[in-house]
Amino acid sequence: MSHTLNTEFERQHHYIEIVREKVEQKKKELGRPLYFYSLAMGCQMNAHDSEKLEGMLSEMGYERTEEEKEADFIIYNTCCVRENAELKVYGKLGWLKHYKETKNPNAIIALCGCMMQQETVLATLRQKYRHVDIVFGTFNLYKLPELVATCMETGETVYDIWQEHQEVVEDLPAIRHFPYKASVNIMFGCNNFCSYCIVPYVRGRERSRTPEDILAEVRKLAADGVKEVMLLGQNVNSYGKNLENPVSFAELLRMVNEVEGIERIRFMTSHPKDLSDELIKAMAECDKVCKYLHLPVQSGSDEILKRMNRHYTKESYMELVRKAREAMPGITLSTDIIVGFPGETEEDFQETLDVIRQSRYSTAFTFIYSKRTGTPAATMENQVPEDVVKDRFDRMLDVLNPIVHEVHQEQVGKVMTVFAEETSKQDKSILTGRADNNMLVHFPGTEDLIGQMISVKIIDNKTFYLIGERI
Ligand code: 5AD
Ligand code: SF4
Repeated sequence: MSHTLNTEFERQHHYIEIVREKVEQKKKELGRPLYFYSLAMGCQMNAHDSEKLEGMLSEMGYERTEEEKEADFIIYNTCCVRENAELKVYGKLGWLKHYKETKNPNAIIALCGCMMQQETVLATLRQKYRHVDIVFGTFNLYKLPELVATCMETGETVYDIWQEHQEVVEDLPAIRHFPYKASVNIMFGCNNFCSYCIVPYVRGRERSRTPEDILAEVRKLAADGVKEVMLLGQNVNSYGKNLENPVSFAELLRMVNEVEGIERIRFMTSHPKDLSDELIKAMAECDKVCKYLHLPVQSGSDEILKRMNRHYTKESYMELVRKAREAMPGITLSTDIIVGFPGETEEDFQETLDVIRQSRYSTAFTFIYSKRTGTPAATMENQVPEDVVKDRFDRMLDVLNPIVHEVHQEQVGKVMTVFAEETSKQDKSILTGRADNNMLVHFPGTEDLIGQMISVKIIDNKTFYLIGERI
């Protein structure tokens, strides 16, 4: 196995060299750098994949730009969890056609990620968006150099979509969006098949990386100055079950907690059906693990949860919340909620509001149900009319936002350790960062503090973030 991994890694390096030569030549001709523009349109997993794509592009000789209008290589890492994300891609492709025709005919346009794993999308691209140059999916990200080389050589559109994962290629170069914090994949794919969700169809079956590979990566990041790691998986609580030597996620957390240099550990996402007492205990006992838990509830109605195929009830979810709070007083919770799942009645919706009131989330990611072709929910009867869903959505925010405000208000007067991440985009004299409990804190400070843990007293509350001052 490791032999194939090495050869694949080397193969791609070979293509990186080939592309780099072409890029250098082009730079000389034009007398300027060649730029890439990279956009991740989905979840943290996508964002992390994009860091790897960007790492490969810079090794190929491209420089990053935030200005799409000057880019020579444009890559969108797409999402298909909700329809809106897909519509956005088509909208942008319309603009790109114009860009290529009028501004930069040699620009290379690449699309990848979840949306590309769907047949219907590929058919649409082939028919209507022929100005796209490279298309690949979620399983063969590491092949980017080879695909770029092929595209440059043939001048034709390159499609490379796999239906399943073949191998995990380790050690891809990556450009981290932040120098001091990094994401680490601990597993890929999802086996849960929640009835509304397309992820299992586009990201394949669950596969865990070995603890050895994960720890090697975390140690390398620590040596590189990284202080905070985010362990990523669609369902981290089922991590390691299928490894040759099974390891639980709780055990993995304890191992990562031992890595010198790492000061904070976060993880996402936890599925309530698999959240074990062992994990709650490990969270409580590991000093570096942040006391923050993202626990998607989706709905508060047992009937809806059943039809969502979630395998828990409102009561068992609330029991988890209680246990987590008991083990870690002061822990903050966040969640994902879907409004308007097929068949959702006003009573079902009231149950969701009740969960929000009881759980007192510090944030919640709220979604209007989006029908995804190919998922079981798409063909369920009683799809909820749009105006009803919109009204429920607004009423949900009316319940949620005051709670978010109150939970933030409870922090005023406290002293927190904030990991300074960047200067505020609006005001360079303000730093922003997160407290251990994941709350966003703005405070006056200079750039040299970025990457440090700073003691900050919270003096004001802006509902979705806090204002503090250094002490
Ligand atoms: N419609 C609306 N929201 C969805 N999610 C996943 N699939 C859908 C869908 N079809 C939400 C869930 C999940 C989050 C990542 O996206 O809440 O937890
Ligand atoms: Fe989708 Fe459910 Fe898997 Fe999350 S756990 S990715 S919601 S199927």
